[in-house]
Amino acid sequence: MPRKPIVGGNWKCNPDKTEKLDSLISNYDSEKIDTSKCDVYVCPSPLHVSYCMGKFKEGVMVTPQNCNIKGCGAFTGEMAVEQMKDMGITNVLIGHSERRGEFGLMAYDTNETLATKLKYILDSGLNCIFCIGEKLSIREQGIEAVMKECAAQLEDVKGMLDPARVVIAYEPVWSIGTGVTASPEQAQETHKAIREWIAKECSAETAAAIRIQYGGSANAKNAPDLSACPDVDGFLVGGASLKPEFKDIVAAISAAKKA
Ligand code: PGA
Repeated sequence: MPRKPIVGGNWKCNPDKTEKLDSLISNYDSEKIDTSKCDVYVCPSPLHVSYCMGKFKEGVMVTPQNCNIKGCGAFTGEMAVEQMKDMGITNVLIGHSERRGEFGLMAYDTNETLATKLKYILDSGLNCIFCIGEKLSIREQGIEAVMKECAAQLEDVKGMLDPARVVIAYEPVWSIGTGVTASPEQAQETHKAIREWIAKECSAETAAAIRIQYGGSANAKNAPDLSACPDVDGFLVGGASLKPEFKDIVAAISAAKKA
């Protein structure tokens, strides 16, 4: 079974004004993006999730950038999966490196909290984009060190990697927002190694079916070459998801993966 490509737009903490949302949303219009061959999701900032619900064409899934560890109640500043479900949300993204403590921010999440969150998300009936990725200091040590780090980030969730419900976003920290994209060779080598690890630790079926997105300075220019990598199943796009070129990234992977 071929894996259906999946591309996400991570708006992070953007835009600065609500009045800019309509124009951003229009980049995802049906005439521009064909969602029949590619799953598409968008992660607006938490304050904008409500506004965005129902504004996208069918097939573009509004996906919060985080959730709490367990339900409603006394969790100031947090978002519960039950609240998302009630709003018609079907997906949530967790584990982004900016929440794991990169770029000088505090670590809001650890491998342990992320495993708790993933279980909570799946038990609540939502699906998940689970982000992993290594820092530059690890990449400089070579692929074995990179894989060791990816394995450490996946270890606590390996029993939950249901390909129908979980997508892995591999995002090397050194390429996020830097303009330095992993080369197609680096992306392919790492995605393949992640898939092999999943085959060994979970099952061959899980490894063959689970989708692994690449994230890190993906854009319209580099998407065609990265899309040609057999183990790259899509993209998680930051900066370029705020621009009209997002549609070209969806088109590139749709064309590359068509049976
Ligand atoms: P970038 O961000 O495309 O701006 O590098 C990717 C991400 O952080 O998801």
